[in-house]
Amino acid sequence: MSKRFGAVAACDAVDIEIHRGEIHGILGENGAGKSTLMKMLIGLVVPDSGSILVDGASVRITDPVAAASLGIGMVHQHFSLVEALTVWENVALGDTGRLSRSGVRDAVGDLSDRYGLRIDPDALVADLPVGLRQRVEILKCLRREPEILIFDEPTSVLTPEESDDLFRSLRGVVEQEGRSVALVSHKLTEMLDVTDRVTIMRNGSVVERFVTTEVDAGMLATAMVGRDVRLRSAQEMSQSDTRERVVADGGGSLPVLEFRNVEVRESGGSLELDDLTFSLGTGEILGMAGVEGNGQRVIADLLSGLRNRSGGEILVNGSVVDVSQPGSAMDAGIAVIPEDRHDSGIVLEMTVAENLMLSDPSGMSSHGVIDGLRREKMAADLIERFAIMCTGPDAPMWTLSGGNQQRVVLAREIAAEPTVLVAAQPTRGLDVGAIEYMTDQLRQAAGSGVGILLISSELDEILELADRILVIYRGQVTGEMTRSEATREKIGRLMGGDIL
Ligand SMILES: Nc1ncnc2c1ncn2[C@@H]1O[C@H](COP(=O)(O)OP(=O)(O)OP(=O)(O)O)[C@@H](O)[C@H]1O
Ligand SMILES: [Mg+2]
Repeated sequence: MSKRFGAVAACDAVDIEIHRGEIHGILGENGAGKSTLMKMLIGLVVPDSGSILVDGASVRITDPVAAASLGIGMVHQHFSLVEALTVWENVALGDTGRLSRSGVRDAVGDLSDRYGLRIDPDALVADLPVGLRQRVEILKCLRREPEILIFDEPTSVLTPEESDDLFRSLRGVVEQEGRSVALVSHKLTEMLDVTDRVTIMRNGSVVERFVTTEVDAGMLATAMVGRDVRLRSAQEMSQSDTRERVVADGGGSLPVLEFRNVEVRESGGSLELDDLTFSLGTGEILGMAGVEGNGQRVIADLLSGLRNRSGGEILVNGSVVDVSQPGSAMDAGIAVIPEDRHDSGIVLEMTVAENLMLSDPSGMSSHGVIDGLRREKMAADLIERFAIMCTGPDAPMWTLSGGNQQRVVLAREIAAEPTVLVAAQPTRGLDVGAIEYMTDQLRQAAGSGVGILLISSELDEILELADRILVIYRGQVTGEMTRSEATREKIGRLMGGDIL
């Protein structure tokens, strides 16, 4: 299968075979062509050349309806749900003929039971966290009983526990029901734990095919990136112990960010942040560990002006900042890389240059040619510095691969030269090469004096990067330690609510 977009060969004569009863991994860096290949299978992208055979017979797949009639279904990298509708309504969306509310609701219930994907069919999608929205997408796909299920990075929005649940049900789908799953991902551990075989793509071509039991993480990473990469392995962890960074001013100077007894209530009245107090120093990377849903997101939302406090104070460089006023957090020098970049980080309809300027309105106000040129130049610089794969500053955001859209957000927030950078799950959805790059960027920003609040559910990420670690549980800090005092076990216990 081949597909070009202008000068880019997204897929260049790609051969792939997916067998009955297997989970087939498709691994590759950001922009390797994985999503394009899958979209050709589902009829969303028209191939330039190539052929598709289902059960040995050549088929023409012109649109997702044709794909569905051949038993092929896909759960997309980015959601296509209608927020104003309920779960069952979304599942029914696209059905032809008369809608039977009870019929669809029953089907949702059956599928939930069968695959262990619990959900309330009457919940509004707008009220659901991302993990549950993912579940709706999956149920919607499963309801059409596809023989071939395509998952494009399904776990980039799931917690580790949710991912385990999903993979357990996929195992059942292939082993008990003899169906096939194509799983796109760039998480090496996922590939090793979940798949039967792996096809690896780089720059639009297949570079390797492996039987999963015959490879290890290092082999996969090398094949994927085309060079040896740093992996976050146990060995790597113990090395980073010895090269711990020395933080400038070690707490003697004024903190760049302070939370004093901050309280946030949800609409029902219960506390989401409960008397939360902590401070972040100049050039410090403060890791906030915790099981997702324990208030991390509320902190990021609060500092983005999306939520209101019901008590306490937030200080930047020693002055109280009322972050509930639009723009005041940004004016005070707080930059936020949001967790759900697709929802709150970018505008798909705008160009890469426009998205890069979103948090710098001065670059947007067009006072004639000079500003336009300045903007073009700044965008081109950022595209180069952050290795964003796109056709140029004028490329519409929707033409970028998922990982590259994410780099645009990172580039923009780091380029704003903030005092405080809140990075929520900053490496989620990035490939190993990009993770390596991202962690270097964060270290560099800290080195230049930016205080970094690293919110992450990946313990490895926290242990690798943070100078100091806070553990949050139910909106409260349950423990604090320096990097050298931290162990996985200790953090794990605190994450579960133990107080040391
Ligand atoms: N509609 C489009 N118009 C122009 N270029 C496109 C379009 N769709 C994809 N591309 C380009 O094709 C290349 C492959 O993109 P694709 O989305 O298939 O990558 P991917 O492997 O899924 O990456 P990621 O892991 O970041 O999601 C990228 O360079 C991307 O910018
Ligand atoms: Mg993709």
